[in-house]
Amino acid sequence: MTQSFQASRQWERISELWVTEEASVDLTDFKSDRVNYKISLWDPRTNGIRYLKALVYELATRLEPEDWERIQKVPNREVGNPVTVRVDGKSVCMDYLQASLEIGFIEKEVELRGARVMEIGAGYARTCHAMLSNYDLDEYCIVDLKNTMMLSRRYLREVLDDEQFAKVRFVEVGDIGAELESSRFDLCINVHSFTEMTPATVDAYLALIDEKCSAFFVKNPVGKYIDKSMDGYLEGDEAVQMALENGPLRKVLDIHDSEAVEAAVPEFISAYRPADGWTCAADGRGVPWSYFWQALYRKSGSHS
Ligand SMILES: C[S@@+](CC[C@H](N)C(=O)[O-])C[C@H]1O[C@@H](n2cnc3c(N)ncnc32)[C@H](O)[C@@H]1O
Repeated sequence: MTQSFQASRQWERISELWVTEEASVDLTDFKSDRVNYKISLWDPRTNGIRYLKALVYELATRLEPEDWERIQKVPNREVGNPVTVRVDGKSVCMDYLQASLEIGFIEKEVELRGARVMEIGAGYARTCHAMLSNYDLDEYCIVDLKNTMMLSRRYLREVLDDEQFAKVRFVEVGDIGAELESSRFDLCINVHSFTEMTPATVDAYLALIDEKCSAFFVKNPVGKYIDKSMDGYLEGDEAVQMALENGPLRKVLDIHDSEAVEAAVPEFISAYRPADGWTCAADGRGVPWSYFWQALYRKSGSHS
């Protein structure tokens, strides 16, 4: 009988290595060190995928039926071997979960049937893929740097059919003047990339948007942060310095303090307004990140 109350071999080992006799001597940091990482939390320094999956899973359980519908309309999402979770038999990764929420926000404000869309800084083109799979667009123009565009071109060639792929136009940043001279767009999209460009470049893009577009969707951070505990400055101090000098919003704040984030929102709305004559039609948190905000602007005289 006594025997059955004893520690398992697993806990004998934990008591020997983590929750040792010495663990109770000094409580200064125990909730953020290996003692608590064996009691309440998984060590966040080595469990990135576990936490990512937990986050995606949690978000996925909160999706509305229409959010899932948009996700499921996107074929070939498994290309590239994403980190996925399954909820009610449906698989999803963070990228397309976000894409669904983003385009769900946009579609409330902009008529996308027959629309011409320009995206600045498309990454591998998850948004383009999700939009072309959900709406009968006329054109999707990606403006990006050469190497990233090689990736998005290759990816879209793989995931889209011929008809959809033919709607995508690829414009390298050096060719913007000549390539876009006579172009007009119903919508411009910028997600998580103006924050990584110099303030002068962002100004130039905002002027381009003012000249060529009727609506603008932006989702970016409201400011910068300095918190070595988050990633141990994995990419080095210089990378941190570079991040701090880019984007129109460079004020440092506590990005996990909702009041600090909300206080930064008016500046966000003003910084990303392309020009006078544009109004913000809708804005909200850029889920899932605590410090991202999203906004949809419309040029006066244009209709949704
Ligand atoms: C962090 S990625 C975000 C990608 C995508 N929007 C997403 O959220 O998945 C930043 C993107 O901005 C692009 N970018 C960086 N500097 C740029 C510039 N000066 N002009 C256009 N695109 C740029 C990068 O090539 C990349 O596609």
